[in-house]
Amino acid sequence: MNFHSRKWVKPEDLNANQSLFGGSLLRWIDEEAAIYAIIQLGNERTVTKYMSEINFVSSARQGDIIEMGILPVNWGRTSLTLKAVVRNVFTGEIIISIDKIVMVSLDDNGEPKPHGYTSVTYARDRVPHRLASRRAHDAPPLSATMDDKVFRG
Ligand SMILES: CC(C)(COP(=O)(O)OP(=O)(O)OC[C@H]1O[C@@H](n2cnc3c(N)ncnc32)[C@H](O)[C@@H]1OP(=O)(O)O)[C@@H](O)C(=O)NCCC(=O)NCCS
Repeated sequence: MNFHSRKWVKPEDLNANQSLFGGSLLRWIDEEAAIYAIIQLGNERTVTKYMSEINFVSSARQGDIIEMGILPVNWGRTSLTLKAVVRNVFTGEIIISIDKIVMVSLDDNGEPKPHGYTSVTYARDRVPHRLASRRAHDAPPLSATMDDKVFRG
C-alpha cells in the first residue's frame, strides 16, 4: 500500500477530548479516495457509494502528522473498490483501517458508467480530458516533469 498524503492535525480538527475529530479524518480519507479514483478511472464524476465498517483504533493529537494509504482491491464494471489505512506518523500506530470504499464512475446523467479499466496506472494517462487539455501547448510532457517512481496514482 502506498501512502499518498499527509495531514497536520490542527486545532480545528480536534474533538472535545482534544484528540483528532473523526469527522475531519473521514473528510480527508473520502477526498483521498475520490482523488485516487478520479485519476485511476479517468472520470471527474466519480462518487463514494459505500464504506465498510470504520473502526477508530487509535487517535492523534494536535501537532501530530497523519498519513493516508490507499490500495485498489477490486476493479468492477462501473466501480473501483479501495482499501484505506490512516497512520499516525509520530507514533506509527494505525488510526483507522477501512476494508472497502466503493467509488462509482458516473455519466452525465449521474448513472453508473463503465470505466473499462482492470488495473492500476502509475502514469497520468487517464487524467480526465477536460483537465488534461488545460495544460499549455508548450508545456513539457508530464513524463519529463515527474518521477513515476514517486507518483502512485
Ligand atoms: C452511485 C449511484 C449512482 C449508484 O446507483 P446504483 O443504483 O446503486 O447503481 P448500481 O446498482 O448499478 O451499482 C453501481 C456499482 O456500485 C456497486 N454497488 C452498489 N451498491 C453497493 C454496495 N452497497 N456495496 C458495494 N458496492 C455497491 C455495484 O456493484 C456496481 O459496481 P460494478 O458496476 O462495478 O459492478 C447512486 O447510488 C447514487 O447516486 N448514490 C449517491 C452517491 C453520492 O452522492 N455519494 C457522495 C456522498 S453522499
